[in-house]
Amino acid sequence: ADGTRIIDGEAVAADVRDDVAAHVETLEEEGVTPGLATVLMSDDPASETYVSMKQRDCEEVGIESVHVEIDADAPAEELYETIDDLNEREDVHGILVQLPVPDHVDKRRVLRQIAPVKDVDGFHPENVGRLVAGDARFKPCTPHGVQKLLAAYDVETEGADAVVVGRSDIVGKPMANLLIQKGPIGNATTTVCHSRTRDLEGKLATADIVIAAVGVPEFIDGSMLKEGATVIDVGINRVDADTEKGYALVGDVEYESAKEAAGAITPVPGGVGPMTRAMLLYNTVKAAGLQSD
Ligand code: GUN
Repeated sequence: ADGTRIIDGEAVAADVRDDVAAHVETLEEEGVTPGLATVLMSDDPASETYVSMKQRDCEEVGIESVHVEIDADAPAEELYETIDDLNEREDVHGILVQLPVPDHVDKRRVLRQIAPVKDVDGFHPENVGRLVAGDARFKPCTPHGVQKLLAAYDVETEGADAVVVGRSDIVGKPMANLLIQKGPIGNATTTVCHSRTRDLEGKLATADIVIAAVGVPEFIDGSMLKEGATVIDVGINRVDADTEKGYALVGDVEYESAKEAAGAITPVPGGVGPMTRAMLLYNTVKAAGLQSD
């Protein structure tokens, strides 16, 4: 579309971080320093990068960060016990176990083991249930960040046709739940598409809002979009490329062609990614507030 708006996730995330930093100061005046624990049990370089970025973000807004690394081939008990210890610590208000965890670890147990008031990812069944019931405590960071982007760019969700492509527990499911809820950045008519969807193209062709979260590089292109649609690209895919690092990052959307069709679109990087990180900080100060009441 002429005058396609490029949704600047870095700028909106910077605003969220400013709000969070102000909230941290208020808590400091009450004698509380918010603390986030990150736990990494993985050799995956992408996971290592994400965790170190999260620690850096904490520092920038005055959140204390604690980091625990566990060998990827250590017994699962080590992770369960680490979570128990962090649940007990008064200086730790938020706990984030970077996913995925190794196959020999029971992921569901990990998610249940984190104290619900410290579950800044919002993945504990209690918090998932609260979100679905319309009584969210911690909204999962990526869908929450997407909501903030839609709000910042005045994207009308009320009555809009939204298509979420992808049904993961981390993004697709909570995203769809937020979009159908009553209230601001909700009230959308929401369709969730996935690998077994028969007529993805038919669904996309009428979508006012497309949230792409499948983890397949450039899965959606401009020819599949309705003219003027808002396109939110959650994908961060490493593809081989002739760059210094030997790879490039591309989204789930083929950006150049999608930009032609879209009314507004998020770039990768610089769209959803910074928002996910900012909302983690937001949830951490919220957790600190809940625990200091
Ligand atoms: N791995 C990919 N995304 C996420 C996330 O939002 N939280 C955690 N803990 N791990 C992830």
